[in-house]
Amino acid sequence: LVLVVDFGAQYAQLIARRVREAKVYSEIVPHSMPVEEMLARSPKAIILSGGPQSVYAEGAPRVESALFEAGVPAFGICYGFQAMAQTLGGDVRRTGLREFGRTPVTVGDAGTLLAGIPTDLNVWMSHGDAVHAPPVGFTVLAASEGAPVAAFEDVDRKLAGVQWHPEVLHSQAGQAVLEHFLYDLAGCTGDWTTTNVVDEQVELIRQQVGDKQVLCALSGGVDSAVAAALVSKAIGDQLTCVYVDHGLQRAGESDQVEKDFVAVTGARLEVVDAEERFLTALAGVTDPEQKRKIIGREFIRTFEATARKLDAERHIEFLVQGTLYPDVVESGGGTGAANIKSHHNVGGLPDDLQFALIEPLRTLFKDEVRELGLALGLPESMVYRHPFPGPGLGIRIVGEVTKDRLEILRAADLIARTELTAAGLDRDIWQFPVVLLADVRSVGVQGDGRTYGHPIVLRPVTSEDAMTADWARLPYDVLEKISTRITNEVDEINRVTLDITSKPPGTIEWE
Ligand code: XMP
Repeated sequence: LVLVVDFGAQYAQLIARRVREAKVYSEIVPHSMPVEEMLARSPKAIILSGGPQSVYAEGAPRVESALFEAGVPAFGICYGFQAMAQTLGGDVRRTGLREFGRTPVTVGDAGTLLAGIPTDLNVWMSHGDAVHAPPVGFTVLAASEGAPVAAFEDVDRKLAGVQWHPEVLHSQAGQAVLEHFLYDLAGCTGDWTTTNVVDEQVELIRQQVGDKQVLCALSGGVDSAVAAALVSKAIGDQLTCVYVDHGLQRAGESDQVEKDFVAVTGARLEVVDAEERFLTALAGVTDPEQKRKIIGREFIRTFEATARKLDAERHIEFLVQGTLYPDVVESGGGTGAANIKSHHNVGGLPDDLQFALIEPLRTLFKDEVRELGLALGLPESMVYRHPFPGPGLGIRIVGEVTKDRLEILRAADLIARTELTAAGLDRDIWQFPVVLLADVRSVGVQGDGRTYGHPIVLRPVTSEDAMTADWARLPYDVLEKISTRITNEVDEINRVTLDITSKPPGTIEWE
C-alpha cells in the first residue's frame, strides 16, 4: 500500500492512478489525517501531492516531521516537495518568479530518482515558491530557471521530491520518475494486478456476506455488470440479479445482459419485462423533464416490487452497488466509510426494505473496472460500452415515445454504432447519441418518389468526464457511410444531420 496524501489539488487521483499503473496499490488520504493514523496503515511509501497553496499562505497545510522520521519512504510532488523541504529545514522562498505549464529542467547528478532519463527534460510545472537550498543530507538532482532546486533525494532516508508534476502526461519521463521512487528508493514490488483484486475481493465478499442472500440491479452498464460478476464469483447463487427491461434500450443490449452476462457468470437473473408499463406511462408525454420523472418513477416501482417479491422468497440482506473510487473520494469518504445505509442510487427504496451495501469497486478507477471486467470474462462490447443514460432512448426521441419510433431509432442507432466500431473509433469517442426528431418532418426524394420523413441527428462527442464535451471530428467517409446506410435501410428516415455543438452550451443528450 502506498498512501497519496491529498493537499487539495486535483492531482491526487491522477497520482494514485499512476502508482497503480506501476502495479503498486495506492489509496488517497486527506492531509488532515494524523500522521499516526497514516503510519498505522503500514504504508510501503507515502506520496505528498501538489496543492493549490503556497507554503507561506496562512493556514497552508504543514507536514509534521514525524512523517519523515518514521523510516517510511516519502516522495514530495510540487507543494508536497516544498512542504518536505520546509519541514526538514531546507530553504523555501517566495521568488516572485512563477513557472506554469511546460518548463525545461536540467538534470545534473541524476542520482537514483532520475537515473537513465534525459538530462534536458520538459516537464509540467505550477508554482510560485521555490526551494533554494535542500535540507541537510539531500542531494540536488535538477534545476529549472525558476526553481534552483527542482528535484532532490536522500537515499539513506529514502526521501525524495520533484518540483514538477510527474503524474501529468505533459511531463516527460513522468512515469519513469515515479517508478524510480517506488521501486528503487521505496523498494516496492510491482505485483498488484487485477487478478489480485479479484482474489482479494472474492475473499472479502465471502467474509461480509456469509450465508446471506444478496440482490443486484443490473443496468446494462459496465459498473453494475462488473460488480455483479465479482459478487457472483464470490458467492454463486446467493446472488440474484434483477434487470428491469424498460424497452428503452438500444438494439442488443437486453440480450447482452440476458445471454452474455449469464453465460459468463452463471448468475441467477430475474428479467422484468416492463416495456408495456413504461410505454403506457409515457404515452402522450413530450416534455423531457416529465419523461425523466416518469421513467425514474416506474423504474423504482418496478425494482421495488421485484425486490419485495424476492425478499419474501429468500430474505435478502445485501444490495450490490457499483460505486467507484472517484465517487468515494469526491464525497469525502476516503477510507472506511460506513457501509450500512439505506440505498439511494437505485432510487429511494422504502425504509422497510433496508439492505447493507456491498461495494466491491469502491477502491477502483474506471479503467481498472474495465480490466477487471475483462479478467472476469465479460465481453469487450459490455466492458467498453459508452456511457448510456438511465432513461435510455426515451430521451433520444424528441417528441412522444412510441414503440414504432423506438424501432426506427434503434435501427439507426445500430447502424451508427456498427460503423463506428468498424472504423476502429470506439475508444476515441466518449459517447455517440443518435437522436430521432420525431415531431419534425422533412421532404426528401428516395427511389422515384417524394418522401416526407424524419431527420436523425448524429451526436458523437469527445470528453473526459461528461462535464464538458466537444463534437467529435469523425472522418467524412465514416459519416458518409452512416448517412447512406441509415437513409437506405431505415424506413421513415430521409435526412441525417450532424450536431456540431460543444458542451457547453449544448448538453450531450438532446433532452
Ligand atoms: P448531458 O446531456 O447533461 O449528459 O450533457 C451528461 C452525461 O450524463 C448522461 N445522462 C444521464 N445518465 N441518467 C443517467 O444515468 C440520466 O438521466 C442522464 N441524463 C444524461 C449523458 O448520457 C452523458 O453521459
